[in-house]
Amino acid sequence: MQKVIAANWKMFKTPSEAGNYVKTLNSLLDANPPADRQVILFPGAINLSAVQSESEKGGKHFQIGIQNFCAAEDGAYTGENSLNAAKTLDVTWVLAGHSERRTHFLETDELIANKVKFAMEKGFGVILCIGETDAERTAGKVEQVLKEQLTKALINVPGEYDVNRLVIAYEPVWAIGTGKTPSNDDIKKTHNYIHKVLDDLMPNKAPQTRIIYGGSVTADKAKNILQTEDVSGLLVGGASLKAEDFNTIIRS
Ligand code: PGA
Repeated sequence: MQKVIAANWKMFKTPSEAGNYVKTLNSLLDANPPADRQVILFPGAINLSAVQSESEKGGKHFQIGIQNFCAAEDGAYTGENSLNAAKTLDVTWVLAGHSERRTHFLETDELIANKVKFAMEKGFGVILCIGETDAERTAGKVEQVLKEQLTKALINVPGEYDVNRLVIAYEPVWAIGTGKTPSNDDIKKTHNYIHKVLDDLMPNKAPQTRIIYGGSVTADKAKNILQTEDVSGLLVGGASLKAEDFNTIIRS
């Protein structure tokens, strides 16, 4: 299966900056298409239209995802993003469970589970983020936290789905935006553990389910992390904001 290389732009960029980024990325990817990578861009919702219209001009070497959405059809949900609307902008992926949504916007495990189910039933691919805080790590609770987050988030997953469309992102909260990353050995052990939990939850799908790493990935570190056993890709925040850097990471 292809390795997933996803860019999480968070709340950065204006529509014109987003359009310029895609123009640059298109030219880099069109010149040398990355055959063994599944590239996904997660712009802020306000930039989706600019990303989509500029992506039309290139060879479509990446897919588009939405960072946040409401687990409901169109309706009276002020300020929320509709997946029906997102679909018209070629959005095919969603992020769920990101620690910034859990922490700043108080997203609960129950809400995350509803979002995962809703998006999967609508045919979107889901990158589900899980990860422990520094305090949880220090207290020796990494496995307990990950098991709980996974079990709760996947409780409503439809019985049948395309295994390519559910990706787990292991993102230790203490590594996000801090410049710190776990050792390769720790990443390997944790990904192995996540696979073990998935095996209990959905034995038919677990072996093929891709687990990607996120948290302070840079162009310098990407290759090393990608070569770690059981790492099927990367979710990149800060280092994805320049098209040239992200292109380097894609080819790591
Ligand atoms: P970072 O963010 O690469 O800036 O640490 C990763 C993420 O939050 O997905």
